[in-house]
Amino acid sequence: MLLAIETSCDDTAACLYDGQAVHAHVVYRQAIHSAYGGVIPEWASREHEVRLPLAVQEALQQGGIGWKDLRAIAVAQGPGLLGSLLVGFTYGRALAAAYKLPFIGVHHLEAHVASLELAPEPITYPLLVLVATGGHTHLFRVQHPLALEVLGRTIDDAIGEAFDKVAASLGLPYPGGPEIERLASQGDPTAYAFPRPHTEKAWDFSFSGLKTAFLYARRQQPGLSVEDLCASWQEAVFSYAVEKLVAAAAAFRIPRVGLVGGVAANARFRTLLQQHAQKAGLTLYLAPLEYCMDNAAMIARAGWHKYLNGLYTPLSAVPFARG
Ligand code: KG4
Ligand code: ZN
Repeated sequence: MLLAIETSCDDTAACLYDGQAVHAHVVYRQAIHSAYGGVIPEWASREHEVRLPLAVQEALQQGGIGWKDLRAIAVAQGPGLLGSLLVGFTYGRALAAAYKLPFIGVHHLEAHVASLELAPEPITYPLLVLVATGGHTHLFRVQHPLALEVLGRTIDDAIGEAFDKVAASLGLPYPGGPEIERLASQGDPTAYAFPRPHTEKAWDFSFSGLKTAFLYARRQQPGLSVEDLCASWQEAVFSYAVEKLVAAAAAFRIPRVGLVGGVAANARFRTLLQQHAQKAGLTLYLAPLEYCMDNAAMIARAGWHKYLNGLYTPLSAVPFARG
């Protein structure tokens, strides 16, 4: 049984995993940031300090096992907020030292990609995966969960960050993605035409122009309901992302695509990609809903691959904010 810990940003999570099944899945989503439009790093670290031991204890209880049953400790090593990462990483390192267990540092984006393998159907590699989170928007060619090649990435805001900023401009709580989705579901996606972003490199992304366009549209079209505006904006963001992912699959001649990360929890995003993938004859893998937003099960799955390959992390290692 492997214990996994995730504290990259504002979610405190612990999981027990044995390579076959998730035996405990605990996520505490910090609510203290909700009124501030984004995560306050110092507060996030302090909340992790308080919550992580409780989350781990709860996971052991859920799994019905004790410390002596653990075989390895996997922890998110980065990228993320350094103070937040330090809490989980140091805690995991201490556990590994105390119980003499292999210690495994996991890359947060590799973990998001590995969340695809938590779905029941087996994955055929290689495939193209879009990681759509609040901190990153990366297009990867994935040969294996531990062999990722970046084909493109956002040159400005991450896709989830754009949702959070648009929501904040409407006075909605953080995280803004689910709030925008809720409003969009009551609006007309064809009410307003947003411009299509352009990037110099074909497989990069840009979302800050769309975010600014939302603010202008709101000011210049006071007659437009906020529901219609959100529906049109969300549709523009997702059709842009989906069409690029599907085009990349054709360009790189890989007939399989995947979608992971917090923004992959959006029902419209999932449906739109399903429709486009089907039309293009692509096999589609979607991260299971409960493993889209940050969680420790995805850390466990990526950590499991490292465990099987003996890819342990020295206890002298440190977390990293970027990379
Ligand atoms: O993967 P995640 O939990 O954390 C990072 O690694 O960043 O992603 C969080 C992001 C936030 O920006 C949040 O607003 C967005 O995912 N998000 C959504 C939805 N649920 C979460 N965006 C759009 N629609 C959603 N339903
Ligand atoms: Zn994440």
